[in-house]
Amino acid sequence: MSKVTVVGAGNVGATVANVLAHKDIVREVVLLDIRGNFAKGKALDSWQQAPIDSYSTRMIGTDDYKKTKDSDIVVITAGVPRRPGMSRDDLISTNAKIVSSVTKSIMKYSKSPIIIVVSNPLDVMTYAAHKVSKLPANQVFGMAGILDTARYRAFLATELKVSPKDISAILMGGHGDTMVPLPRYTTVAGIPVTEMITTKKLNAIVERTKKGGGELVKLMGTSAWYAPGAAAAQMVAAIVRDEDRIFPCCARLSGQYGLRNMFLGVPVKLGKGGIKEVLKLKLNKSEMKLLKNSADHVKDVMKTFNKMKVV
Ligand code: APR
Repeated sequence: MSKVTVVGAGNVGATVANVLAHKDIVREVVLLDIRGNFAKGKALDSWQQAPIDSYSTRMIGTDDYKKTKDSDIVVITAGVPRRPGMSRDDLISTNAKIVSSVTKSIMKYSKSPIIIVVSNPLDVMTYAAHKVSKLPANQVFGMAGILDTARYRAFLATELKVSPKDISAILMGGHGDTMVPLPRYTTVAGIPVTEMITTKKLNAIVERTKKGGGELVKLMGTSAWYAPGAAAAQMVAAIVRDEDRIFPCCARLSGQYGLRNMFLGVPVKLGKGGIKEVLKLKLNKSEMKLLKNSADHVKDVMKTFNKMKVV
């Protein structure tokens, strides 16, 4: 594994490339953006950081897909971000066209890459990239769950006054306000979180997590990039190092949890080649109900996408 392309050199894309370079685990990162020399500048700046932070990953900026030839992994962050008052679903009219055309261009120059989608609305943009690329489903998936659980873990760490490192959690469903944090599967250094916090406080954290992206959009006027970028880079690292990490990722379902032919956040095993397995948790009735509600919401956005006929 030596070549990773990141499409979109904006806030999230540039962060993915920069965090990845710091891990020093791939030979080359190609940063591509439609905005003329913009990606060239970002890549050059990142390359000039290499002597200071001591990494060897080559950074190449371009607006030409030829430079992406034979990429092992492609991270798609191209598209417009949210502005205050917008939901992720509001981005579909613009981002569906962008993600579809980016995927087409990528497939021209790379035969069988792994594609990680970050553009929103995430679950449906991942569905679009899969449809356009015609790649096996274990090679096309989306980044959302790592970010959403990171937000949840960070809020819990603040509340409990413990290191976020010690909080382990899993979360399912779509990347939107219907996401399903799972307190039953949340631990603090192995201790069930419910032994350390009142139900009322935990519920408030779950609610804040669901709207975690929106909270940042309100604060900054645009959507977040540090945690999203780091999350996508962590997925790349798990694949490159063949780590078999268990992460919540947006994956294609083929009957798991009673759902099929759609992409939704579920726990997966991530390593060489992409998704090795979708894990099946024994959800209780109320958790299943929340998951189904989230899936229904994603299906509605899929309908809008299919009506657009961009694929
Ligand atoms: N091909 C390549 N790059 C493109 C294309 C395209 N067809 N269309 C847009 N871009 C680029 C823009 O030029 C811009 O540099 O995508 C970049 C997006 O960067 P930002 O505007 O900074 O947006 P960012 O915050 O990075 O978010 C990108 O990720 O988290 C999601 O919701 C977010 O969908 C949004 C995406």
